[in-house]
Amino acid sequence: MAVGVFDSGLGGLTVLDALTKRLPEVPFVYFGDNAHAPYGVRTADDIFNLTCAATERLWAEGCDLVILACNTASAAALKRMQETWVPPEKRVLGVFVPLIEALTERQWGDNSPPREVAVKHVALFATPATVASRAFQRELAFRAIGVDVEAQPCGGVVDAIEQGDEILAEALVRSHVEALKRRMPAPEAAILGCTHYPLMEKAFQDALGPGVKVYSQANLVAESLADYLTRRPQFLGTGTRSRFLTTGDPAYVSNKATQFLRRKITFEAA
Ligand code: DGL
Repeated sequence: MAVGVFDSGLGGLTVLDALTKRLPEVPFVYFGDNAHAPYGVRTADDIFNLTCAATERLWAEGCDLVILACNTASAAALKRMQETWVPPEKRVLGVFVPLIEALTERQWGDNSPPREVAVKHVALFATPATVASRAFQRELAFRAIGVDVEAQPCGGVVDAIEQGDEILAEALVRSHVEALKRRMPAPEAAILGCTHYPLMEKAFQDALGPGVKVYSQANLVAESLADYLTRRPQFLGTGTRSRFLTTGDPAYVSNKATQFLRRKITFEAA
């Protein structure tokens, strides 16, 4: 009864952590495509092909349901995968919608017309590919009106995190927040629209100031998956054990993952 969790690298571990806390009885198989990270500077075709290959690997592990714990893949590939590629007996879900439902105070499946919501000025921090896709604005427009979104492509942050360079990552976060504030001086809310960024959440919050509510995805995605599995238990696959798979060097990736999550994590070659 395993579920697959995919990211281009280490970022999806922030989601995996919340999933294992919320659903301790479910085995999760994690796939980090570290050899090809970062995805955020790749073309949509490239992201589609890499994400499909990783998803197939997770299906082979007995995970009929795969969570793309990667905004870049969710934004650039998921719609095309669902429309053209995923067979009816499998499911691939993204991380965007739970976040937008939280921001717009909606329950799951509430498809009523877009309406006014409390927040009016939202800062979005994401990879260049996610920002270019405008997927966040598209999903938001289905649910809310009158929300001004200013998006900041945060070049370099994923790379610095993958390399384990926290000092560089923090410096880049500060400069991206400053760049955004020049265009939107007083955001009410900030979205960390990349699953790597919760690893730098304190740096974002410090640079934004205490008055800005920072939304990150991990807990929202965990709640949403728990709800989904109650409604669709048939998508719990046949896999029985938790594993961590990587296309990168397992020793190196295990080391970085252990450093970031502050608990021992052992990756195997995918
Ligand atoms: N964690 C991925 C995301 O949520 C990072 C993408 C990348 O590899 O650039 O967008």
